[in-house]
Amino acid sequence: MPRIERDIAQLKAEVAQRPLPRHVGIIMDGNGRWAEQRGLPRLEGHRRGSDSVREVTRAARRLGLSALTLYAFSSQNWERPPDEVAGLMDLLRDYLHRERPEIMENGIRLHAIGELDRLPPRVRDPLEALRRDSATHTDMTLTLALSYGGREEIIAMARRIAADRIDPDSIDARAIEDRLWTEGLPPLELVVRTSGEFRVSNFLLWQLAYAEIHFTETLWPDFGELDLLLAIEDFQKRERRFGKTSAQIRTA
Ligand code: IPE
Ligand code: IPE
Ligand code: MG
Repeated sequence: MPRIERDIAQLKAEVAQRPLPRHVGIIMDGNGRWAEQRGLPRLEGHRRGSDSVREVTRAARRLGLSALTLYAFSSQNWERPPDEVAGLMDLLRDYLHRERPEIMENGIRLHAIGELDRLPPRVRDPLEALRRDSATHTDMTLTLALSYGGREEIIAMARRIAADRIDPDSIDARAIEDRLWTEGLPPLELVVRTSGEFRVSNFLLWQLAYAEIHFTETLWPDFGELDLLLAIEDFQKRERRFGKTSAQIRTA
């Protein structure tokens, strides 16, 4: 334990000296496999996953990240067995009640993106209350992607463009970003996917255009502060070229 503690402290100091990604998104995957490997019910994996949410949120806040977006439940996850969906909704409700004091005391603004009207009242009500009560906080924005799908977000954006009767010639990136659910959040710069899957599974499709992606084998219930720091360290070593040449980037 002392060795790990010292490694984390040193890594944190190094990572904090370099520019941090302005917005980190995490596809929190592998809860089911974590439980199945231990002969436990899948829901126990989700329960342990919510402990990782707490640890990672704390670590992000302490490090000084300004925006963290956690993919907690996809539009497609509604198709899972009803018992698992109901259990996940109970865990979300419990999470919102349990984390409320920490969010309120630490200057965190809680935000949510997704088809939120599909959520049951036991989740939607505490979510809306916490969103309202933390709206003026500025230290970090924690966004929960809940009942979220990137394609669903793009469809909703297209409907708003049509409803606003925008002149086709004036539709540009700004017009689109102003109508996405992520409107107002900083540009997504780093996405982490856990559990050894190499796909984006309908997460922030528009916003991913130039994000760096960090894949890790770690299952979400095992993911903690050290893993977050390693992902950010990986990001900090990348050369982001945005279509230009390496030489252009180095002289800029
Ligand atoms: C991620 O863990 C949580 C949700 C998608 C809700 P999974 O439940 O997808 O875990 P695996 O992929 O089956 O291991
Ligand atoms: C992605 O995980 C969604 C969340 C982490 C909430 P899934 O487990 O649903 O993704 P697939 O099915 O493996 O692509
Ligand atoms: Mg999964």
